[in-house]
Amino acid sequence: MSSTMDISSILQGGYAHPLTRSWQSQSRSLTKEMLMYPIFITDNPQEESVIESLPGQKRWGVDRLEEFLTPLVAKGLASVILFGVPFNLEKDPVGSNASSPTTPVILAIKKIKSLFPKVLIAVDVCLCEYTSHGHCGVLDAEGLIDQEKSVKRIAEVAVDYAKAGAQVVAPSDMMDGRIRDIKRGLMDAGLANRCALMSYSAKFASCLYGPFREAAGSAPSFGNRKCYQLPPNARGLARRAIVRDINEGADLIMVKPSLPYLDIISSASQLAPDHPIACYQVSGEYAMVVAGAEKGVYDLKEMAFESVEGFVRAGATVILTYFTPQFLDWLDEGRE
Ligand code: PBG
Ligand code: ZN
Repeated sequence: MSSTMDISSILQGGYAHPLTRSWQSQSRSLTKEMLMYPIFITDNPQEESVIESLPGQKRWGVDRLEEFLTPLVAKGLASVILFGVPFNLEKDPVGSNASSPTTPVILAIKKIKSLFPKVLIAVDVCLCEYTSHGHCGVLDAEGLIDQEKSVKRIAEVAVDYAKAGAQVVAPSDMMDGRIRDIKRGLMDAGLANRCALMSYSAKFASCLYGPFREAAGSAPSFGNRKCYQLPPNARGLARRAIVRDINEGADLIMVKPSLPYLDIISSASQLAPDHPIACYQVSGEYAMVVAGAEKGVYDLKEMAFESVEGFVRAGATVILTYFTPQFLDWLDEGRE
């Protein structure tokens, strides 16, 4: 695949895997194939630790993945998205360990691929778990985002994950221009026809990421993410970001969070009618649904279905949710 080829010429990355092929049909009712399960991978190979902020979720070491995933795969788990949680690896200003050969997500890609060759492996691409300052990009001398250095580094990381065997790379950093650089990087590495690029296109600066940041140890050490994640009131910016990322070569478009942004999911499905649309029911949404059920406000299963069916109704065809293990049971049980 020549790097002189146009980005818009590349379609094969979006249907290289049986599951990405299934995502090309725009289903309007929830199936197991639509569910992608977010998993936290630590660099302690034996670890299995409870995440207080995310009831029922744990951080997993690479050596524990077999026992953890075997029952889920038996129930029909089709895809996972991996997040690295480095406890021992050193953090530096450019996030060098995001893609070192021993970083936990790279080890996990290889492990999951060898254990469960049919499970599609997506990997979140960001620097915040690996940078000393905890921001999602590389900073300049003033502590502001250096756009050029950021996208260069993020594209390197994405290509390294694809080289390790990831079938979807999913940049969540929100740096301008990273989709183009990642696609170019995949093309130059000869991987653009093998790996799909799922853009967190409309990712808002939400208060609903708190439990995740606790789980991943990725809160910024100063400031916030409002200069790169979108303002929650910004429907126009979200629409522009979606259109931009389509033009820069995204194979899937994601909206995040989900429940407060159903209008944006709907916009995405209108602006990108020919792309699979993903949405992320983020950590705070999950914790909120669970907390309400614990308070007796509603039944957990009913509310989990009602939320996800809202996403599907709005136009989502791929759903990232911490409820995935439960849905694998619930979808078999049927409903009243
Ligand atoms: C890293 C990243 C975050 C989430 C996904 N990737 C946190 C953030 O942007 O601060 C949030 C996921 C969740 O809350 O479940 N950039
Ligand atoms: Zn980040």
